[in-house]
Amino acid sequence: MRKPMMAGNWKMNLTVAEALDLARQIYRLVGETTAVEQLLCPPSVCLHPLKAATDDMPFLLGAQNCHWQESGAFTGEISPPMLRGLADYVILGHSERRQLFGETDETVNRKTHAVLAHQLFPIVCVGESLEQNERGETSSTITAQVRAALDGLNGEQIQSLVIAYEPIWAIGTGRAATAQTAGEVCGLVRVVLREMHGAAVADTTRVLYGGSTKPDNIAAIMEQSDIDGALIGGASLEADSYAEMVKITAGVYGG
Ligand code: 13P
Repeated sequence: MRKPMMAGNWKMNLTVAEALDLARQIYRLVGETTAVEQLLCPPSVCLHPLKAATDDMPFLLGAQNCHWQESGAFTGEISPPMLRGLADYVILGHSERRQLFGETDETVNRKTHAVLAHQLFPIVCVGESLEQNERGETSSTITAQVRAALDGLNGEQIQSLVIAYEPIWAIGTGRAATAQTAGEVCGLVRVVLREMHGAAVADTTRVLYGGSTKPDNIAAIMEQSDIDGALIGGASLEADSYAEMVKITAGVYGG
């Protein structure tokens, strides 16, 4: 019912030529697999060339951020209408944006509304810091972030977006959450969705895990019933490892 998604967040890596090369390499390795949604999120300057070059490949494309306004004096920003036709998804509220670029629950919420208003699908990121984790505040942090990000949306809008649980202490550290912990927190996200909009919304909205996912831990993560995919950083920059994760996930789902 919930199609698995392997989303590669390429962050601020790769030139246009390198991005095209990586996409072609992945396609050579994975081929026409459609059992798993393959989402590539390159730097925004790569979206247009990548869209043109991968039109006949089974990839969806995502941006890594956008502004909530449609246009205006916001030097350096890109807006949802600019992404229409180039991207399917937009990552919002990634912890790097929250920590390094002043993103708040409020701006994530504004962006989520704006992205949906332009027929794009948000991937809303939530995640606790190491300190919050050690103080036992994971549940309260995740609950508050999910509630704030989705404030004012209706159930149908929520079903169309994706939520990614990315514990900050697991990002780029090689220290992934255990599959069980990742599954439990993604389950908690679903509990919050159920409280907000009922079981039908909670059961159909996709929830991803992100943070040091690799070919050798993806099967255990994907076996968790509340996890529908991964938001992959480092391992998505290597065609071999990303392709391997797509294939393993297709196997877990019997694809
Ligand atoms: P890593 O997979 O490199 O830990 O990054 C995760 C991430 O931040 C994806 O958005």
